[in-house]
Amino acid sequence: MIIAIDGPAASGKGTLARRLARHFGLHHLDTGLTYRAVAAALLARGLPLGDEEIAISAACNLDLSRLDRDVLSAHEIGEAASRIAVLQGLRDELVRLQREFAGREPGAVLDGRDIGTVVCPDAPVKLYVTASPEVRARRRTDELLSKEKPADYASILADLKKRDERDSSRSVAPLKPAEDAHLLDTSEMDIEAAFKAAVDIVEQAR
Ligand code: DC
Repeated sequence: MIIAIDGPAASGKGTLARRLARHFGLHHLDTGLTYRAVAAALLARGLPLGDEEIAISAACNLDLSRLDRDVLSAHEIGEAASRIAVLQGLRDELVRLQREFAGREPGAVLDGRDIGTVVCPDAPVKLYVTASPEVRARRRTDELLSKEKPADYASILADLKKRDERDSSRSVAPLKPAEDAHLLDTSEMDIEAAFKAAVDIVEQAR
């Protein structure tokens, strides 16, 4: 059983993926963390973000069981992750690790940008989770404020739009819904409603 979840930054796909995994007793991988972990390793060593060979060697040392969401959620790491995500050789290596993970019994939920299109094109259930940029920026702002971190709505909105543009317009594995993905627009939904809608979609597909 594989559930593939894609969508833009701050669409709520990560929360949904975690909850679906718990509900259906599946493993969960936030594939954004794999790009973030490579970006963080390069930033920490002051290495360039545009060098494919260096990025691939950082990816080869990745341990999927040690991805720390709190550390990797930093804004500058997300930006750097989006920049290295255009490197085809790096993507090939990360996709290999992600597919290995997807093969674990009894199944897995993977979320990212290209799960339904590239990583697991045969997944029996695909969701494309989205929300308007304004709603996503508001959610991200509230999340940061609730953790007592600085957050400015206008600059978060501008950053999200920039990242959407970069993730959707790159030539390799761009962000886009798979043809057979179920679209879930959560602009007008809270997390409970989104979760219920997603469970219904998965139940129907099973
Ligand atoms: O989901 P996120 O914000 O943690 O992802 C960070 C960046 O990683 C995102 O801007 C693009 C890249 N990414 C990707 O290219 N493919 C994926 N499957 C997941 C993330």
